[in-house]
Amino acid sequence: MKKSEVVRRLISQLESQQPSHDEATAFAPTNIALCKYWGKRNSELNLPMTSSLSIALPSKGAHTQLKFSASDQDHIQLNGVTLSPESEFVKRLTHFLDLFRQNQAWRLQVDIAMNIPVAAGLASSACGFASLVMAMNALFGWGLSPRELSILARLGSGSASRSLWPGFVEWHAGQRDDGMDSYAEPMPTHWEDLRVGIISLADTQKPISSRAAMQRTIETSALYAAWPQKVADDLVLLKRALETRDFSLLGSTAESNALTMHATMLSSWPPVCYHLPETIAAMHQVWECRKTGTEVYFTQDAGPNLKCLFLKSDTMKIQTAFPELSVITPFE
Ligand code: PMV
Repeated sequence: MKKSEVVRRLISQLESQQPSHDEATAFAPTNIALCKYWGKRNSELNLPMTSSLSIALPSKGAHTQLKFSASDQDHIQLNGVTLSPESEFVKRLTHFLDLFRQNQAWRLQVDIAMNIPVAAGLASSACGFASLVMAMNALFGWGLSPRELSILARLGSGSASRSLWPGFVEWHAGQRDDGMDSYAEPMPTHWEDLRVGIISLADTQKPISSRAAMQRTIETSALYAAWPQKVADDLVLLKRALETRDFSLLGSTAESNALTMHATMLSSWPPVCYHLPETIAAMHQVWECRKTGTEVYFTQDAGPNLKCLFLKSDTMKIQTAFPELSVITPFE
């Protein structure tokens, strides 16, 4: 099935749609997976091999403003800078807008403001696509539910399906070929004392896209066969940790899950390595903190930066160990 067909099924009045506003804006938070999505069962529709679970960072994300444009092409600005139509970012976005255009003549001025580095493993595409579908839903008055918007955001980037809500979110892998059962849902746990720290080590763009890296891992890594079971086990542990507010279980499961994902991609050929020397040094520092009694854990995505998890009471100690740390309170 093609993406455009999924869009037509969800938005029945697509062919005759009329804008309900002149402009619309939306904000979507970025999200950090504690149990990762790595590998697709359908790469056209971004259908994952496994379910995944994330936490949103409410103060970090993307604001998207949409206005109709009189021009014959879309104009896309990122953080106030107009991007060349030849840039990969613009091509990806225009291609996504085409799914909703389906031969109609409208063109958009799209202004995206992000307060996180782009394509550096901080889920910029997740919050970007989530805020775009939310703003389009408002602009055209589609009246779609968050679940339907999660399906549409997934067509842009898999992890975008989880960026529609604050707090903990689970993305159900689903089983259907059309992906209508592959959407995310918010989880009820509020954890006021939980903190997420971003250890920014580099804001360079990733050496290989997560899409290409996932594909290579599935095709060449002998360790990939073990990944779905690891995810199934970790999801059970994470849900238990959320129910019982067991921080040690939450942190150790998230760290182990990230390390297993990176070990699996490292064993691909050619190897997929998102670590820089600074990444490994920061991991050792986290382990050193734990040895000396400060409970902190890390997770890492498709980039060199680490995100760490700790409790409010340890904030000072962690900030002393990592002076550049940006501390986020997920539940304000
Ligand atoms: O949604 P994508 O294609 O950017 O892939 C995201 C992959 C990871 O960030 C590494 C894991 C995840 O679950 O977010």
